[in-house]
Amino acid sequence: MLLIRFFVLVTLVGTGLFIETVAAQQEKAESQTKPEPVPFHSMSLPGLDNVFQIDKQFYSGSGPHGELSFQALKKLGIKTIVSVDGTPPDLEHARKAGMKYIHIPIGYDGVSEDAGLAFARVARDLKGPVYIHCHHGKHRGPTAAAVIGICRGTLNQKSVQQFLTQAGTSKDYAGLWRDVKKFKVPDSNAILPELVESAKVPPMVSAMAQISHDFELSDQLLQNKPENRKQRLRVLVLLREGLHETARKYSGDYDEMFKQWLTESEQQVKSLELAVQQGDQQAFTTGMKTLKFQCKRCHKAYRD
Ligand code: HEC
Repeated sequence: MLLIRFFVLVTLVGTGLFIETVAAQQEKAESQTKPEPVPFHSMSLPGLDNVFQIDKQFYSGSGPHGELSFQALKKLGIKTIVSVDGTPPDLEHARKAGMKYIHIPIGYDGVSEDAGLAFARVARDLKGPVYIHCHHGKHRGPTAAAVIGICRGTLNQKSVQQFLTQAGTSKDYAGLWRDVKKFKVPDSNAILPELVESAKVPPMVSAMAQISHDFELSDQLLQNKPENRKQRLRVLVLLREGLHETARKYSGDYDEMFKQWLTESEQQVKSLELAVQQGDQQAFTTGMKTLKFQCKRCHKAYRD
């Protein structure tokens, strides 16, 4: 009896092992036929961040600032730069380096139908090499590049998801991910918009682009060096005025809370100025953090 039991046990264990081995082999075979996706080529260029090559002719990355970065794009062979940022493109530097600009500003909340059609036109008419950028090259730029890649037929729904992940596009900007996912290439007979080198942007967007510029400058001046102090104060005054003017002139389309938040930020900048005047580095550092939190709080509620 004991012997029979032992036999049954050995058979059962044996069968189990056999099944497991077959399953493992199948899995291995499957993973061999499904190769890991190849990462997009990431490049290091002077004065530019988050640069990726999306296909043979198209690149995506951060906005160029100053001679060095435009020269780097020229060296790469770029003929046209496409900006999706709210800041007016630096046409002068581009022209000097022999490049054209196309401006299709988009928000953080998604790709409008018009912007989608304009991206289709970029894909149809620009032969490349083309460099697509927003400000940091992480969210809106890669989104635009993804849509353009789909129109060009060089990217598909699977590879764009991989590309956005690699570029660091935040899932917080759900509208960007959503609009890439639902994007349909326009029919070949669709009327596509004219492309312009510098588009008109709503005053709220321009004001925010300026606020952002001044905020980043103050952030870079975070280090408490004596030579930074004067410049810090100058930038903070500009930032405070920007917030004040935005509340006064452009908050009419929003509710009371919106205006109140802008006023709170204006007061926050005032306390930063005080911290600089008193040489209180600790107060300046924590004050900058509070201000950053205020930017994000409003964007979450009203923008993204
Ligand atoms: C009270 C609300 C509010 C506050 C505070 C605020 N923003 Fe904004 N910001 C907005 C809104 C709304 C938009 C979108 C405007 C649009 O697209 O119409 C925006 C857009 C932006 C943009 C995108 C501009 C573009 O290129 O399209 C940047 C960058 C920005 N804000 C930076 C900042 C920074 C930095 C701060 C803090 C110092 C800040 N914002 C504070 C409401 C706010």
